Amino acid sequence: MKEIKVLIADDVEETRKNIRLLLELDQMITVVGEAGNGREAVELTNSIQPDVVLMDINMPDVDGIKATEAISVATPQVAVIIVSVQGEQEYLKRAMLAGAKEYLIKPFTADELSSTIKRVVELHRKRWQELGKMETSSEVKKHQPTVVTVFSTKGGVGKTCICTNLAVALARSTREKVGLVDLDLQFGDVAVMMNIFPKRTIAELMQEQGELDAELLENYLYERSGVKVLASPNKPELSELITPEGVARVLKAFTHSYDYVLVDTPPIFNDTTLVALDMSDRILLLASLDLPTVKNIKRSVDILKTLGLLPKVKLLLNRSTGSHGIEPEDVERVLELGIDGQLPSDGKLVIQSVNRGQPFVLADANAPIARSVENILPLIDPRMKVDERQEVPRAAKKKGFFGKPIIGIR
Ligand SMILES: Nc1ncnc2c1ncn2[C@@H]1O[C@H](COP(=O)(O)OP(=O)(O)O)[C@@H](O)[C@H]1O
Ligand SMILES: [Mg+2]
Repeated sequence: MKEIKVLIADDVEETRKNIRLLLELDQMITVVGEAGNGREAVELTNSIQPDVVLMDINMPDVDGIKATEAISVATPQVAVIIVSVQGEQEYLKRAMLAGAKEYLIKPFTADELSSTIKRVVELHRKRWQELGKMETSSEVKKHQPTVVTVFSTKGGVGKTCICTNLAVALARSTREKVGLVDLDLQFGDVAVMMNIFPKRTIAELMQEQGELDAELLENYLYERSGVKVLASPNKPELSELITPEGVARVLKAFTHSYDYVLVDTPPIFNDTTLVALDMSDRILLLASLDLPTVKNIKRSVDILKTLGLLPKVKLLLNRSTGSHGIEPEDVERVLELGIDGQLPSDGKLVIQSVNRGQPFVLADANAPIARSVENILPLIDPRMKVDERQEVPRAAKKKGFFGKPIIGIR
């Protein structure tokens, strides 16, 4: 056991001296201070931080009960032991309610005194250790950031629409901190779709000297509908300022203080996109029902597999409704992946929302496409439940375009 530091609080100097003498017999215990009233006891406890306060009840100014209460609130890691005389039972009860850990009735022997102190300290230290463990584990649980990259090697497939709407839907339904990074560094559309005219973008952030921490990052973010956005550069040529290491630092800074970090990407496997894919917990791979896209995505799947990233992938089918000549089942067969989520076509609502810079999950929360975004949320965080009623109807089953031979896109 570590050394035990004790503060003696009693208004009678003689009593303090006697207790000190008794405690000096025990090598484990050191008297670190004496207080003549409750006020002094509280002040000294604050400054000295002893392990134990031996507290008399009847003291002038602030009595022992009030002092015990103050210490239990301000410095709960300090254990108070009440020292009283026979006949103070009612006070004792109040002292225990005020937070005292134990009491000693005068007169007591040196042995009784030191064994009580040691028992109380041991128990108290254990309790604090347990509490510390619980706090750390709940903190870890509380802050488990999830990084999600929306990716597709095809342009115009709906990455930015889905990424922005997912971010807003996440912020709305979880009320947690959601960040959104536009890594389409040359032709990013996140700012337009979120109605932001950014002066500060990732390009300016990259030119900052010193450590890129959560505080610095915050200066470069624009808030829309509960989502904090880091915009892509205002000019395509500025994209050269953003290195893979820079992207890693940005994402790291986001994960320090954000619960969800969504990343929008260009339709290519470049080095900055690869960093995001690598740092992601979830990759939402976007496909649509047209032959060039499926062919293209098939190649992406092969690359993701080679990179060992396939386990993080969830396949989403955008514009799944309507007549295409290709069925979702064909896509699954070709990609050798199951479709995890589908979003229907809604040309009117989507184009309106894009042009107004207002995500459609806000413009019309009841539209099937908005509800389908909500249904994708459990792919990001399984704690969110799918509402069965919101399942998006699949396109009427027709004979697959690919029929049997699917060699053409292998
Ligand atoms: N589910 C959908 N229904 C109708 N139109 C859509 C849908 N998803 C996307 N679009 C249209 O496709 C366009 C391109 O989408 P965008 O998100 O910019 O694609 P990407 O980021 O993959 O290049 C949008 O402007 C929007 O009008
Ligand atoms: Mg885009």
